[in-house]
Amino acid sequence: MDFQNNQTGFSDRATEYKARVEQVIVNFVRKKKLQGRLGDAVSYAIATDGKRIRPLIVYATAELLGVPTAIADHPAAAIELVHIYSLVHDDLPAMDDDDLRRGEPTVHKQFDEATGILVGDALLTFAFELLAESGVEPSVIVEWVRLLSRAAGASGMVAGQSTDLEGETCALSLGSLEQMHRQKSGALIEASLSMIASEAVVATTGNGGVEAARLEGFGHHIGLAFQIRDDLLDVEGTTEQIGKPQGSDAASNKSTFVSLLGLESARNRMQQELSAAQQQLAYFGEQAEGLGWIADYIVSRSK
Ligand code: IPE
Ligand code: IPE
Ligand code: MG
Ligand code: MG
Ligand code: MG
Repeated sequence: MDFQNNQTGFSDRATEYKARVEQVIVNFVRKKKLQGRLGDAVSYAIATDGKRIRPLIVYATAELLGVPTAIADHPAAAIELVHIYSLVHDDLPAMDDDDLRRGEPTVHKQFDEATGILVGDALLTFAFELLAESGVEPSVIVEWVRLLSRAAGASGMVAGQSTDLEGETCALSLGSLEQMHRQKSGALIEASLSMIASEAVVATTGNGGVEAARLEGFGHHIGLAFQIRDDLLDVEGTTEQIGKPQGSDAASNKSTFVSLLGLESARNRMQQELSAAQQQLAYFGEQAEGLGWIADYIVSRSK
């Protein structure tokens, strides 16, 4: 997959960054010399063709703040590892019970359920091992660990996943749904910005001022827009196009933006979030080209 359908200069760099983070992950895992079924299953999970949107956000934020790409590689790879873990567990029978991911059988289908659980455990812990072994300033590593663990854990993604499952048995209020989306998807997207834009990181590795509030606002809006698009694609996409079973949310009776608001209002809300995100970026001008490209891609993507 590449990003050539979008005509700004970041398209080419996005294709390069995607290949780059994939190489960082593969090199890291290869060094661990995993054996047997677990080794095969971890290799399988990292090889599937994801969009790598979170790493792209990391690299685009690094472009904006003058952080070298070689430094950005570490948070980019760590966040993608956490994300892949979250997908492997999300698909398990006890959770969304889905058989297809990124156009391939899910890990528990290709291997078995226990292996799916263990692959998730392995990828989550690899993320932190990778950061610890990154060789950058210890103060930066501590900040990365703080931000990523907070986003991935029980006040971020894990909390959102729990609410998501509660939303199968009773319709969530719009407020709870927004909170759930911001936790289950928004938190890792926001961490993709903050692991570069944090004062503690930029002071050591970058050359620009941070304007953290604007970037936080951008992440907040784009995180919500991202998950609304995901909810829309579950209804409007085809299984072939999205690489996961179309209609999975409806089949599990999930509370989603579409089930609560209907297609039209969900689309409008997504556009409002996009506009709010773009407003936050306007201040940065051309330097924010990458983040602007990603925002447009998030709401127009077809997979
Ligand atoms: C899917 O994420 C899971 C959600 C948080 C909605 P992506 O749409 O980024 O999936 P991949 O990584 O490209 O497969
Ligand atoms: C969950 O959202 C995203 C996480 C894995 C945290 P979904 O359950 O909607 O993701 P998809 O649609 O299966 O990719
Ligand atoms: Mg889910
Ligand atoms: Mg799911
Ligand atoms: Mg979904």
